[in-house]
Amino acid sequence: MKARTVGELLRISANTLVERQLAWDIDDGLLQAELLYAKVSATSRTQVIADKDSAISPASLNEYRLVFDRRLASEPIGYILGEKEFFGIPLMVGPGTLIPRPETEVLVEIALERCKTIENISEYLNIIDVGTGSGAIAITLARYLSNFRVYGIDVSEDALRWAKKNEELFNLHDNIELNRGDLLSDISVALEHKTSVLVANLPYIPTEEANTLPEEIREQEPFVAIDGGEDGLDLFRRLAVQLSSVLTPDLGCVLFEVGAGQISWVEDIIRDGIEPITDKVLKVSHHRDLTNTRRVLEISYGI
Ligand SMILES: C[S@@+](CC[C@H](N)C(=O)[O-])C[C@H]1O[C@@H](n2cnc3c(N)ncnc32)[C@H](O)[C@@H]1O
Repeated sequence: MKARTVGELLRISANTLVERQLAWDIDDGLLQAELLYAKVSATSRTQVIADKDSAISPASLNEYRLVFDRRLASEPIGYILGEKEFFGIPLMVGPGTLIPRPETEVLVEIALERCKTIENISEYLNIIDVGTGSGAIAITLARYLSNFRVYGIDVSEDALRWAKKNEELFNLHDNIELNRGDLLSDISVALEHKTSVLVANLPYIPTEEANTLPEEIREQEPFVAIDGGEDGLDLFRRLAVQLSSVLTPDLGCVLFEVGAGQISWVEDIIRDGIEPITDKVLKVSHHRDLTNTRRVLEISYGI
């Protein structure tokens, strides 16, 4: 890299990332380069931008080359940085867990609103986050909802290790419990018919499509976190029949992140799971993400 200033280095890096299809466009390339440079120079991205005209020190350049080469080898930027910002906080991430995506923040926003309502009318302030991964959803909810107890479940020990690190980072031992389990098969007695909120961002990509995702997702992030079976809906079908073991009959709210075009299918599956639990009217809402895709299914009753 023949760059003399920080700005030149960032521009060359951004162009290379775009050429190698590791960035969507030049802005995304610049963002990645700025974050990587901030990491090696132990500063903030804002400072890197402010220092654009400064000369690069040989030491910084050498360190930068090492991390940039990792990026060129398709290592996800979140793993290289060791963190990913989610809902305004930096969560620790690394190999073994899915890197939280911004669209999941929609689900968190709605969950926070519903929980504030439920807090005033239910005696059961338990939330289950199925497929908790790095703990992105569980950690965020626990930070804002001190009256609730949040139960994060994941089938992957590797993912749970990251969730535990985040639990420690944000000092949430008192209101989060993380456990290994296959969906709701191993839930504790404390949750049986005593859960008012269930949230999940389960794997929903059809297997064939998952196999064609960019290498940095397909090969580097855990396949168990993205593969939803033949039509992407396997996990929803299995979970739907387990809902009656945890949800309270009087009131409840379930929120699911879904893939583009899946929401009506998932609605039918989850409705079938909830109808036998309650005699209350089910309220169904479809919520869109920032790209206008119907991303979050909400079904609630009694609230
Ligand atoms: C799409 S990731 C979501 C991770 C995190 N909740 C987030 O939003 O960033 C799906 C998660 O579900 C977990 N998972 C897959 N199959 C599961 C199962 N049968 N039971 C529990 N968790 C499962 C994966 O290990 C992965 O962590």
